[in-house]
Amino acid sequence: MTRVYLAMSADIIHHGHINVISEASRLGEVTVGVLTDEVIASYKRFPLLSYEERKAIVENIKGVVQVIPQETLDYVPNLLKIRPHYVVHGDDWRTGVQQNIRRRVIETLEEWGGKLIEIPYTRGVSISQLDEALSRIGTTPASRMRRLRRLLELKPIVRVMEAHNGLTGLIVEKTRVSCAEKIKEFDAIWISSLCDSTAKGKPDIELVDFTSRLNTINDILEVTTKPIILDGDTGGQIEHFIFTVKTLERLGVSAVIIEDKVGLKKNSLFGTDVPQTQDSIENFTKKIAAGKKAQLTRDFLIVARIESLILKAGLEDALKRARAYIAAGVDAIMIHSKSSEPDEVLDFCREYRRFENRVPLVTVPTTYCQITEQELSDAGVNIVIYANHLLRSAYPAMLKTAESILEHGRAYEADKGLMPIREILNLIPGGR
Ligand code: SPV
Ligand code: MG
Repeated sequence: MTRVYLAMSADIIHHGHINVISEASRLGEVTVGVLTDEVIASYKRFPLLSYEERKAIVENIKGVVQVIPQETLDYVPNLLKIRPHYVVHGDDWRTGVQQNIRRRVIETLEEWGGKLIEIPYTRGVSISQLDEALSRIGTTPASRMRRLRRLLELKPIVRVMEAHNGLTGLIVEKTRVSCAEKIKEFDAIWISSLCDSTAKGKPDIELVDFTSRLNTINDILEVTTKPIILDGDTGGQIEHFIFTVKTLERLGVSAVIIEDKVGLKKNSLFGTDVPQTQDSIENFTKKIAAGKKAQLTRDFLIVARIESLILKAGLEDALKRARAYIAAGVDAIMIHSKSSEPDEVLDFCREYRRFENRVPLVTVPTTYCQITEQELSDAGVNIVIYANHLLRSAYPAMLKTAESILEHGRAYEADKGLMPIREILNLIPGGR
């Protein structure tokens, strides 16, 4: 029997897929390699349906004889297993990110005289347009909240970017780049206390109250679908924190990170230049336990942020606290550092990997920004947060424009560097 192989993610099925399968079935017995959740999450957005659901759909399409998982973007491992006479694909992969994958398919098939058959791409369907339409439909609080845990299961490292209003939320939601066979985007949104306060012209000292922070959260929830991690500062009084947890769950925020400090909180990046007091292990573990008890869903995460390296209390103290916080039921640990080198965080990671009871590990490489996501992931880090980068890039640009207008007595000189009016009018759809 002639063996035919094709691969698909099958997350959104359209008539283009049916066409490819039907053409393939004319050639012989069709095996479909359905991409696993991990593979889809690694090269584009999070899959809407699980592998099992997608497999069940494809198995029931006319012309499909069997479905197997494809565990890499690369077809080669499955091709070596099946040794198909034909591989069938739309002709849209000759250029762009998939061209190397295509080349390896052709080279591998040559080993046993197999052929690649390319079907003209079905006009009028575009996965990116369908994706766009789906994101316009939006999400629900429950499914948004759940997504962070799922991402932690699927991705070697979850990439998080700060947003401090609707517009920056949209940037985190939509920005994509294609590189090396992949489409890269941010997985989740960090709502930083530093950026939320700074954007309001206030210092980062827990002065912006929870009601104002909720307004920012709400602005971002309104226009995005990605999971949100809230910077919860110290979490406040234990009696207040239990209410915060319930509020955040109701809204569909996925996680809150609370730091083990007490008294007047100052931003960690001041380090020991300003007075800051670390909480006792006893009190902070009580706060964690109370938060966990207050939680209504299994999806929400409470993350304990350890300030020992920031406050120069040393690695041993950080490790001791990590053990205690995990024992108190925390869902993840964030280790913070303001060192210009990644060494102290990497030292922590090395020791942390020896823990028997580990929970996901979060880092915020603001001062040690030379470290790559790959290096962090290799060290065992599960979440990387770019905590303030959109605000820090916007401020100098705005200041420069303001200064230029003052200097020249007109806006002409500044205008060349600005977004054209036509673009700003059309940036947010629905304005016409
Ligand atoms: C924030 O973004 O507000 C943080 C991280 O808490 S840091 O500013 O590094 O303390
Ligand atoms: Mg903060």
